[in-house]
Amino acid sequence: MTTLSIEKLCVEVADQQILDDVSLEVSSGQVHAVMGPNGSGKSTLSNAIMGKPGYRVTSGSITLDGENLLPLPTWQRAKAGLFLAMQYPTEVPGVSLRETLELALRARGKTDVDVTSRLLEEAAQIGLQAELLDRSVNVDLSGGEKKRNETAQLAVLEAEIAVLDELDSGLDIDALRACAERIETMTDSGLGVLCITHYHRLLDYLPADQVHVLVDGHIVESGGPELAQELETNGYARFLKSDVESEGVTVSIDGLGASKKASDSNSDDPFADPLS
Ligand SMILES: Nc1ncnc2c1ncn2[C@@H]1O[C@H](COP(=O)(O)OP(=O)(O)O)[C@@H](O)[C@H]1O
Ligand SMILES: [Mg+2]
Repeated sequence: MTTLSIEKLCVEVADQQILDDVSLEVSSGQVHAVMGPNGSGKSTLSNAIMGKPGYRVTSGSITLDGENLLPLPTWQRAKAGLFLAMQYPTEVPGVSLRETLELALRARGKTDVDVTSRLLEEAAQIGLQAELLDRSVNVDLSGGEKKRNETAQLAVLEAEIAVLDELDSGLDIDALRACAERIETMTDSGLGVLCITHYHRLLDYLPADQVHVLVDGHIVESGGPELAQELETNGYARFLKSDVESEGVTVSIDGLGASKKASDSNSDDPFADPLS
């Protein structure tokens, strides 16, 4: 049993606070979904968990089975059992996928894995063409092929906890189903998943135990799978600040005040004279 524990995490990027007081815990076999509007800090959370340079933890903690991950570089976090499927997987020319996985497995003390045959098995399950496995890591793969490639890597590496940053983006419907169902079977053998997504569809195949809503770097609500369904239906409106303030433009020049309603003429032209 492995537990990734994030407590009261605050993260700064480029001198700006992005995450504020984020807490959540993912254990073996569990799926936690994080959903939130664009720019709310979802990728920042995944980058902070993996220790990407530039993502500065200003307070709070990230631990794996009680071990403080914060001082560890990314490769040691991976060695400890974490895996990140990136929102935009990086192409690494000249670096063989097989050798990378062999070295990663060896670093984790797993020396008896036949990487070539495991990769072929996994690729077949999720519809990734076998010849693409001969390329350097992610090089010249389509967006969807990269996401399948990440899923195959996750399966071969037998990580303890996986962070999936929008695994669904770029995947067609059949590939989404195949990848999500494959990951769901991995949870049966103990994988814990932190699944960042915009869409309930992914969770149809990879059901979440808990759903967390991240808005402006803050978890504003946590709940069961029904929360993802509600977001799909209603969007984030009830979690966002009231738009009463932004309904009109208030202008005050030299003591003159004027307020225009968004419904007035010219209102959809951001360059229109608000006093005209
Ligand atoms: N490396 C970076 N440099 C500057 N700003 C960043 C960086 N990474 C993230 N941000 C900013 O942090 C905010 C949250 O971004 P991100 O975590 O990517 O959001 P999400 O994944 O929820 O769409 C955005 O305003 C984004 O511009
Ligand atoms: Mg993102």
